[in-house]
Amino acid sequence: MWLDVFRKHACPVAPQCVLDVGCGTGVFEPALAHAFGGTIFGVEPSEHMRLIAQRVRSHPLVTYLDGSAERIPVPDRSCDLVLMYLVLQHVSDRPTAAKEVSRVMKPGGRLLIAGRFSGERTPRAWSCYFPRADELEELSVPSHDQTKAMFEKPGLRFLETERVRFKICGSLRDYFQRVRLRTASAFDHLTDEEFASGVAHLEADADRESYPQPVFQDADLMVFEKPA
Ligand SMILES: C[S@@+](CC[C@H](N)C(=O)[O-])C[C@H]1O[C@@H](n2cnc3c(N)ncnc32)[C@H](O)[C@@H]1O
Repeated sequence: MWLDVFRKHACPVAPQCVLDVGCGTGVFEPALAHAFGGTIFGVEPSEHMRLIAQRVRSHPLVTYLDGSAERIPVPDRSCDLVLMYLVLQHVSDRPTAAKEVSRVMKPGGRLLIAGRFSGERTPRAWSCYFPRADELEELSVPSHDQTKAMFEKPGLRFLETERVRFKICGSLRDYFQRVRLRTASAFDHLTDEEFASGVAHLEADADRESYPQPVFQDADLMVFEKPA
């Protein structure tokens, strides 16, 4: 589903060189190679995640690189499409990241930033179970206006924002099994008691699920272009 959204906002050239900043374990990379047909760079600062990506999501067109949004190890003007998927909130030096992203984009290239932006009422699927994590995350993410100003400063042009509803799990039971692993960084600042209480509420709701109900979440996708 996200691939269709990425394709819709990409510039109409083929093949395309795609850079996925903060690619994590490479969930998108083989599909990006298939959809865009060019070199795919997955840049990820966590060695642990990068090693998983290399092990389980290798592809002849995909290169995983050690780097970050603030230090992107690819040449100037080399990428047709840059993705930042659920990553901007983790970037500590966002102005430097914006400069780096602009540097590596080809003229006419596109940047797609997907995630949550403050003030936009796009809570996470877990927000009602962990209200303090929700408040903390809301405070840690930039607004649309801040993001627009940040990426326009190094010369990108803002085009549009699309709200995207996507399925994150096939059932509340599966969602509970995922959340209880506490892998989301938004839970880092909760006490163990707060986390346990949220998980217990989620489990109780999952127990009441009589047939599998898919879990959906909204995210905003901000689209930028590097003027030709
Ligand atoms: C929520 S995960 C998203 C991973 C991937 N985009 C996905 O959707 O599967 C956030 C990712 O951002 C990475 N990250 C953290 N700080 C970063 C930075 N400064 N620059 C780039 N990526 C960063 C993390 O290591 C993690 O892989």
